[in-house]
Amino acid sequence: MLKKHQWWQEGVVYQIYPRSFQDGNGDGVGDLAGIRQRLDYLAWLGVDAIWISPIYPSPMADFGYDVSNYTDIHPLFGTLDDFDALLAEAHARGMRLILDFVPNHTSDQHPWFAESRASRDNPKHDWYIWRDPAPDGGPPNNWLSSFGGSGWQYDAARGQYYYHAFLKEQPDLNWRNPAVQDAMLDAMRFWLDRGVDGFRIDVIWHLIKDEDFRHNPDNPEYEAHMGEHRRLLSTYNTDRPEVHDVIARMRELLDHYPDRMMVGEIYLPVERLVTYYGTGAGGVHLPFNFQLIGMAWDPALIRAAIDQYEAALPPHGWPNWVLGNHDNHRIASRVGAAQTRLAAMLLLTLRGTPTLYYGDELGMTDVPISPQQVQDPLEKNMPGLGLGRDPARSPMQWDDSVNAGFSTAEPWLPMAADYRDVNVRAQARDPHSLLHLYRKLIHLRDDWDALAIGRYRGFSAGAQLVGYLREHENERLLVLLNFDAAQQVVDLGDLLCGEILLSTSLKREGEPVAQTLLLDGFEGVIVRASCN
Ligand code: NOJ
Repeated sequence: MLKKHQWWQEGVVYQIYPRSFQDGNGDGVGDLAGIRQRLDYLAWLGVDAIWISPIYPSPMADFGYDVSNYTDIHPLFGTLDDFDALLAEAHARGMRLILDFVPNHTSDQHPWFAESRASRDNPKHDWYIWRDPAPDGGPPNNWLSSFGGSGWQYDAARGQYYYHAFLKEQPDLNWRNPAVQDAMLDAMRFWLDRGVDGFRIDVIWHLIKDEDFRHNPDNPEYEAHMGEHRRLLSTYNTDRPEVHDVIARMRELLDHYPDRMMVGEIYLPVERLVTYYGTGAGGVHLPFNFQLIGMAWDPALIRAAIDQYEAALPPHGWPNWVLGNHDNHRIASRVGAAQTRLAAMLLLTLRGTPTLYYGDELGMTDVPISPQQVQDPLEKNMPGLGLGRDPARSPMQWDDSVNAGFSTAEPWLPMAADYRDVNVRAQARDPHSLLHLYRKLIHLRDDWDALAIGRYRGFSAGAQLVGYLREHENERLLVLLNFDAAQQVVDLGDLLCGEILLSTSLKREGEPVAQTLLLDGFEGVIVRASCN
């Protein structure tokens, strides 16, 4: 492959939720030693980079997204030595490692917050977002927490409120304060110097809030089932123009190191999302594109979303796609077993960097969680609305032994009931498994520049299909995905002839194609065009 592109453009990223990947020390919670044990699996699968959700010291109010020290490892996960060993072993296998960086808020147990809340005149008094009460003694404005209730918490010592976009145990840092920026850039530098290849930046669009703390407007689309946190639009507490200045500082830091990247977590409409590429090359390398997570699984909507995204990208903006993560329902649960193969082919053949959530390559589904088993604070705060994230965080299914080979102890979240059938060992033995399909798709991206870096062109193939061409130099591939349970005949006209490179049914490789192509229900194919 020509090396015109960066690793984070050509490669496939694999997200590990560390509590649930592999337990190395028998306490029921995954850890760094466990991830090390499984690196050979990831190398076999063919992924190019792993992103690990937070592993820093944390009281775990939000399972690591409440950081109490940015430059150490939580003992639950191991030590800095374990981290260095993991990084070295990943690099030895040609894999990059992306850390999750959580700059918007700290834990309320972080020493910075302890100092900040102690008085109104201590050196860190303005490291967090403190405001006087409203005239009636209530919160300073109407901003809501994404985890339910007001976003403001009263603190008796200061006689003021502090703002928390998430839990009250996660106070927001004041990123308008240059000292905060410097301290957080120092933390990033600590890991860059250790050799990490990049950062996934948590809720990056939240970093700067409105200078005047204006009230948020009502959300005209709000319905009670969405959860109270959606009652207002987040107009003034997120996506403020000045956020791009602090991102530019992060980018400048990364650019001092060779080959590093950052991917920003951003849930915004496409036209706002693409502004996070920055002007020139001053933004994040990849603003996460969550369209396929947020939308209905419908071919017309998906076609429109791809076209809208492709059209909105700035000239320097490299695309990316995501089907699932630790905050959303599993893709296999969303689309159903019959369409997991189609979803895999979509993710891995669209133009741009794919990010794959651990276990999705097996078709792991949401695991039912009883009220007694709930761990997620979001579910605890707003129960029964289907917002809980525990179902998508169940332990990885490695084999059919006790606890699926994840742990010798009772896992922190329940195992899926089907793990004796759905696991890595069983699927590795079965060449027709979903796991093998994922592996083939990942390896095809290595073999075909058209897939990894080629142009994208929509191909109109009927209402029930999503179709597109991927082209690079003399390589030309046609992807056809049938979203319908019924067979479809696709008329290729004289546009194309060639052979099937890969089908989700795995039985048609090498089959010649000319003029028309019959697709099974929910079948996807990649056709190598050898004429025209
Ligand atoms: C986004 C993370 O993905 C989510 O898991 C977390 O709860 C919030 N940010 C708060 O940090």
